[in-house]
Amino acid sequence: MRAVVHDRYGPPDVLRLEDVERPVPMDDEVLVKIHATTVTRTDTGLRSAKPFFSRLITGLRRPRNKILGMELAGEVEAVGAAVTEFKVGDCVFGGKGFGAHAEFVCIRESGPLAHMPAGMTFDEAASVYDGASEALACLRKAGHLKGRSMVIYGASGSIGTAAVQLAKHFGAHVTAVCNTKTVELMRSLGADEVVDYTQGDFTKNGKTYDVIFDSVGKHSFRRSRRSLKPGGVFLETDLGFMWHVPLLLLLTRWIGDKRVKMGIPRYTKQDVLFLKELIEAGKYRAVIDRRYPLEDVIEATRYVETGQKTGNVVLTVIGDRAT
Ligand SMILES: NC(=O)c1ccc[n+]([C@@H]2O[C@H](COP(=O)([O-])OP(=O)(O)OC[C@H]3O[C@@H](n4cnc5c(N)ncnc54)[C@H](OP(=O)(O)O)[C@@H]3O)[C@@H](O)[C@H]2O)c1
Repeated sequence: MRAVVHDRYGPPDVLRLEDVERPVPMDDEVLVKIHATTVTRTDTGLRSAKPFFSRLITGLRRPRNKILGMELAGEVEAVGAAVTEFKVGDCVFGGKGFGAHAEFVCIRESGPLAHMPAGMTFDEAASVYDGASEALACLRKAGHLKGRSMVIYGASGSIGTAAVQLAKHFGAHVTAVCNTKTVELMRSLGADEVVDYTQGDFTKNGKTYDVIFDSVGKHSFRRSRRSLKPGGVFLETDLGFMWHVPLLLLLTRWIGDKRVKMGIPRYTKQDVLFLKELIEAGKYRAVIDRRYPLEDVIEATRYVETGQKTGNVVLTVIGDRAT
């Protein structure tokens, strides 16, 4: 099968399209023929080994998993002997930590995989899992959200666009902070208020909030502290300058009445099923910025690394079609 491989850490140019052996499903696995996948910030972080300590997980000197790709949508090509939930030909979506930048991948039946929501294209279904998993992990750290006021900073990113929709579903009053070109998008995703950061600074509007979620790692607890209500929570997705965020997590447990929290995504089947339900109820949709064919993975990766994509960047493995 064709796959994008990398056998050393480095810039996007270390990626190359190659013929590799097609995986064979174990008894409890499903072989998925991938139609679409995405390039995520996690893919770029793992490929460049930034932060450096990610090598402890991915391989100290060179990457143990040579094929990146966290999320996908496609068709079941084959199933292991013990698989009961899926059959050949089913359209599925979900993810796996590695391996989706390829024509085929094996995923355990009990893993984060579900039947595709009706009416979704493969491109859309492939763009649902990663940003939403990261957003869910953070939102869960904030406790109950019903009736609480919340700022989502960097709301136009993959995590941000997911967070706006999920926070609305959980009942929060959402203020999305983004640039001029995505103001309308934020309204269409359900944001109650939108602050264009090129026109004003939400920390200077005199309002205070229960939760501030920096979904793009570009704000800080220091700058937001006065905009949090007593007992408020600052949610972070990034380790921050000199990895100061884990330290703040600890310090704010003991000092002051405002907490810094960070979510670690769980990547479970339960979450994929939850997203499928929301999509089918019309409460969640994937936001896609650009699409590239698999062979243009380097160009797609360079674009993701600008840090300016809106939502998600899709890699098309097989031409899309509506289900
Ligand atoms: N290292 C890892 O493995 C890893 C993995 C996943 C996530 N993360 C963290 O999670 C963050 C979010 O991931 P993501 O995939 O959602 O990011 P993303 O999709 O790349 O975010 C890009 C969006 O953020 C907006 N943005 C950029 N700079 C901004 C600023 N200063 N103020 C407000 N908005 C800004 C951009 O809009 P503009 O056009 O306005 O700039 C763009 O729409 C990453 O930045 C990273 O910190 C890290």
